[in-house]
Amino acid sequence: MTPFFLVSLLLALLPSIRAASTFSPARPPAQPLAVRSPYLSAWQTVGSDGGNGGYLAGQWPSFWPGQTLGWTGLIKVDGTAYCWLGNPANVPFVNQTSYSYTSTSSVYVQSVEGKVQITVTFLSPITPDDFLRQSLVFSYINVEVVSSDGKEHDVQLYTDISAEWVSGDRSNVAQWEYGTSGRISYHKVYRQTQLAFSEINDQTEYGNWWYSTTADKGYTYESGIDVDVRGQFSNEGKLKNTVDTNYRAISDKWPVFAHAFDLGRVGTRSTSRLFTIGLTQEDAIQFDGAKGVVPLPSLWTQYFPDEISALHFFQNDYEVAKSLSSSLDDKVQSDASAVSDDYATIATLALRQSFGATQLVGTNETQYVFMKEISSDGNINTVDVIFPAHPAYLYTNPAYLKLVMAPLFENQEAGQYPNRWSMHDVGSHYPNATGHTDGNDEQMPLEECGNMLIMSLAYYLASKDLDFLTKHYKLLDQWTQFLVDEALYPANQISTDDFAGSLANQTNLALKGMIGIKAMSVIANATGNSLSASNYSSIASDYISQWQTLGINSAANPPHSTLSYGSNNSWGLLYNLFGDKELGLNLVPQSVYDMQSTFYPIVNGKYGVPLDTRHTYTKGDWEAWAASIASESTRDMFYSDLANWINVTPTNRALTDLYDTVTGDYPGIYFINRPVVGGVFAQLVLELGLHP
Ligand SMILES: *[C@@H]1O[C@H](CO)[C@@H](O)[C@H](O)[C@H]1NC(C)=O
Ligand SMILES: *[C@@H]1O[C@H](CO)[C@@H](O)[C@H](O)[C@H]1NC(C)=O
Ligand SMILES: *[C@@H]1O[C@H](CO)[C@@H](O)[C@H](O)[C@H]1NC(C)=O
Ligand SMILES: *[C@@H]1O[C@H](CO)[C@@H](O)[C@H](O)[C@H]1NC(C)=O
Ligand SMILES: *[C@@H]1O[C@H](CO)[C@@H](O)[C@H](O)[C@H]1NC(C)=O
Ligand SMILES: *[C@@H]1O[C@H](CO)[C@@H](O)[C@H](O)[C@H]1NC(C)=O
Ligand SMILES: *[C@@H]1O[C@H](CO)[C@@H](O)[C@H](O)[C@H]1NC(C)=O
Repeated sequence: MTPFFLVSLLLALLPSIRAASTFSPARPPAQPLAVRSPYLSAWQTVGSDGGNGGYLAGQWPSFWPGQTLGWTGLIKVDGTAYCWLGNPANVPFVNQTSYSYTSTSSVYVQSVEGKVQITVTFLSPITPDDFLRQSLVFSYINVEVVSSDGKEHDVQLYTDISAEWVSGDRSNVAQWEYGTSGRISYHKVYRQTQLAFSEINDQTEYGNWWYSTTADKGYTYESGIDVDVRGQFSNEGKLKNTVDTNYRAISDKWPVFAHAFDLGRVGTRSTSRLFTIGLTQEDAIQFDGAKGVVPLPSLWTQYFPDEISALHFFQNDYEVAKSLSSSLDDKVQSDASAVSDDYATIATLALRQSFGATQLVGTNETQYVFMKEISSDGNINTVDVIFPAHPAYLYTNPAYLKLVMAPLFENQEAGQYPNRWSMHDVGSHYPNATGHTDGNDEQMPLEECGNMLIMSLAYYLASKDLDFLTKHYKLLDQWTQFLVDEALYPANQISTDDFAGSLANQTNLALKGMIGIKAMSVIANATGNSLSASNYSSIASDYISQWQTLGINSAANPPHSTLSYGSNNSWGLLYNLFGDKELGLNLVPQSVYDMQSTFYPIVNGKYGVPLDTRHTYTKGDWEAWAASIASESTRDMFYSDLANWINVTPTNRALTDLYDTVTGDYPGIYFINRPVVGGVFAQLVLELGLHP
C-alpha cells in the first residue's frame, strides 16, 4: 500500500473527517503555546500516545505533565459558532490548514467553511539580554481574521480560560475579579488560599493569573459557568459584562473568564485582537545565600511599581516583543540552517523550552536565574541540568549562564555546604533554593566538579569577565583538587545519567574530570596563578594519556571508547569530549574524535545512537553534543535522526530528552519539557566561537 492510501484509510477510520493540516518545519511531539517559566508552560499535545495529531481545536491545552488547562477559542461567522481552540461541547471545529513553529512562536492557520481564515499566533518572547522583558512571566495570543472568499462576513470572536491554571488540585477554591487599566481589560484569577512557594502536581499555588486584552470596539466580557458563558456567546455573539461572584472550587460548575469582540463585517482587510496570559508572584524563590534563607522577589518587581503596571507594559509591548522575537527567530534560523535544515528543525524547537525552565529573580543589585529541573525531580539549579543546557545560554547571552550558576557559588561560598566537591543542586524542590547544609544532596561529585569548572571557563572565555574567575577561584581550585584525586579512576558512582545506573571507572565521566582539570589550568593562568596552571596542565595531560589506554578498546574493529575501563564490548556516547573543543583546550588528540566519528554510524539505531550499551534508549541532548564534534557525515546522521524522531515519535509530551532508539517512544515518566534540550546549541557555540 502506498503511504497515500494508508493515510486515506486512517482518515476514513476517524469518527469525523478532518481536513489535513501541514506541519512545518516538523510535527513536534507537543506544540508550545505559552512557554515562559516553570509555571507558565501550556502545550498542545500531538504524538499518538494521547495527542490529537497537532490540531489546535478539538483537544484541551495542557500543563506540561498532562493536566488540562481550560483555554477556549470560539468564533461566530454569519451566525454560526465554531471552535478554534480547545474542546468545548457542542461546537463544530474549524479546519486547520497549517501549523508552523519558530524559536518563539507557534502559528496556526484555520479556515471556517472557506469563508474566513483565522491565524492564531502564540508568541512566547525570549529576550536573553533584555531582562525587563525576560523577567515577565507572560505570553501573547494574537488572533487575526480575514475573509477568504472575497466577501464580507459577520464575525464575532471569543476566548476564555478556566480556573485550572491557578492550582494543581481541582478541588481548591478559586477567586477572581474583572478590571480595567486604561484600555486594558483583564480577568485576574487566583487561588483563594494562597500557599507561598508551594506546588501541587508541579503547578504553583500562589500568585495571580491574568487573562487580558485591549478593549477595542465591540468588546464584552463575562465570568461564570463554562457552558453558560460559552452558550451566551454562541447564541448571542456577545457577553453580558457580568462577573460571577460565587467563588468556588475549580471543578465546581467550572468557572471561566471570557473576552469577546464583535468584529462586525470582516472583508479582505484583516482585523486582529490581542490577548495575553501570565502570572505574577511578587516573591519567587526562597534562597539560602550569603544572608541565610531569604525570600527573593521576581525581577520584574524592580522595573514596575506593581503587577498591573507590569501587565499594562506587556499588553502594550506586542509590536516591540514581536520584532525582537522575529530578530531572534531569524538569527537562530539562519545560523542553524547554515548547518542543515534538520539541525534548524531541532534548534528552533529547543530554544524556548531551555528558557522556559528558568526565571529571573532578585534586585537590580543582585540578580539570579533560577532553573527548575522540570519533570525529573524538581530540584533547583541542578548543576548537571544546567550543564547540558548551557550552550543555549552561551549562544544567546553568556551573562545568563553566569546568573544561573550564581546561586550555587553564593550558597557554597557562604559555607552552607559541607562537602569538598560541588553540590548537585541548590535545593531539593523549586522554588525553595534552601540548600543542603547537611551535605545530603544527590551525590554526583565528579560530574558536578567537572561541570562547574567547564562552565566557569566557558563563561569567562565568552565574557572576559576576569572578576568572576578571581571571585570564585578558591572554590574552583578546591573542586580541581578533588578531580585530581578522583578523575583518573572514578569510584563507583552515578553520572548525570543516573537513571542508567551507577558504575565504577566510567570512561566518559573520567574524561569530564580531566577536561575540568585542564580548564582549571587555563583559569589559573588567566588569574596569574602560573604555578598551579602548569601543575594542573601537566596532570591533565598525564591523565589523558593514561585514559587513552584505560578507556579505549583499540583492538576492536573499529576501535571505540568503552562505557567503563576494561569492558571491551561496552560503549556509549562520549559527549563529554565537547568540553575540550568548546574551551579550545586541545587536551584530547584529534584521533579520538575521528575514532568516535567512525564508530557511531556502526551502532546507530532507527532513531539514533543509544546512550550506552546498557539500554536501547538515548538522550537527545547528548546526541547533539556528540554530533557537534563529529565529522560532517556523522554529525548529519545524528541531526537527521533527531529531526526525524521529532516528526514521527508517538510521544505526546513536550520535547522529551529521553527516547527509545528502536521504537521512537519515550520510555518512562521522566524527562518531559526539560531545559537540557538547549544542548542542541553546542553546534552553534562551536560554529560561532566563544571569544567575544
Ligand atoms: C472542514 O472541511 C470539511 C471537508 O472539506 C468540510 O466538509 C467542512 O464543512 C469544513 N468545516 C469548516 C468549519 O470549515
Ligand atoms: C517550600 O517551602 C515552604 C516552607 O517554607 C513549603 O511550605 C513549601 O511546600 C515548599 N515548596 C515545595 C515545592 O516543596
Ligand atoms: C532598577 O533599574 C531600572 C533601570 O535599569 C530602574 O528603572 C528601576 O527604577 C530600578 N529599580 C529599583 C528598585 O531600583
Ligand atoms: C599539583 O597539584 C596537586 C593537586 O592539588 C598537588 O597535590 C601537588 O602538590 C601540586 N604540585 C605542585 C608542584 O604544585
Ligand atoms: C578501575 O580500573 C582500574 C584499572 O583497570 C582497576 O584497577 C580498579 O579496580 C577499577 N576500579 C573499580 C572500582 O572497579
Ligand atoms: C599561560 O598563558 C600564556 C599566554 O597567555 C601562555 O603562553 C602559556 O602557555 C599559558 N600557560 C599555561 C600553563 O596554560
Ligand atoms: C580488552 O582489550 C584490550 C585491548 O584494547 C586488551 O589488552 C585486553 O586484554 C582486553 N580485555 C579483555 C577482558 O578482553
